[in-house]
Amino acid sequence: MNRWVLLIAGVLGIGVVLAQVAGLSENIQGYTNWTRLNINKVTKAGPHAGVRDVYINLKPDQLLGADGQPKFPLPAGTLIVKESSDPNTLSVTTLYVMQKKSDKPGDWAWGMFERKSNQFMGGTLTNPAMCVGCHQNSKNTDWTYTTYEKR
Ligand code: HEC
Repeated sequence: MNRWVLLIAGVLGIGVVLAQVAGLSENIQGYTNWTRLNINKVTKAGPHAGVRDVYINLKPDQLLGADGQPKFPLPAGTLIVKESSDPNTLSVTTLYVMQKKSDKPGDWAWGMFERKSNQFMGGTLTNPAMCVGCHQNSKNTDWTYTTYEKR
């Protein structure tokens, strides 16, 4: 929504109801408006099922270094949401989330949300050993697998 509309509505005291996705934490609401790392949907078989899109809360110019290549490590506060959808219905089933806790490589919080009809259930994982065990193998790219595809 246009921020001026919000501001004016705020000044006039008009209640504005923003579309919220039930069950998702505040910091990933609206992730579909972020930068999508992949161009085409990721469909290759792998640990994460379904057809996938990966979104990041950074702009392309923040993702690429002076040499035009993706730069790592990613800064503190980076959020990555991987959206998995059912390959037949294309309805979203699961969101996998990584949130950078500091600028240090590999220092991520891990989360997962599963869709139950019209809302999501889940949150930050208290024991992300399974996620870490696999992602830590991707050392040169700050424990991430999907890098920004230039378009
Ligand atoms: C056995 C390996 C493996 C495990 C376990 C695993 N992942 Fe991944 N993850 C991948 C691969 C490979 C990708 C690249 C995209 C794809 O294939 O879907 C990926 C992609 C992601 C992405 C998008 C950013 C990126 O790195 O490309 C997120 C977010 C993510 N995983 C979160 C999680 C979370 C949260 C868990 C634990 C619940 C987890 N992963 C467990 C292998 C794994």
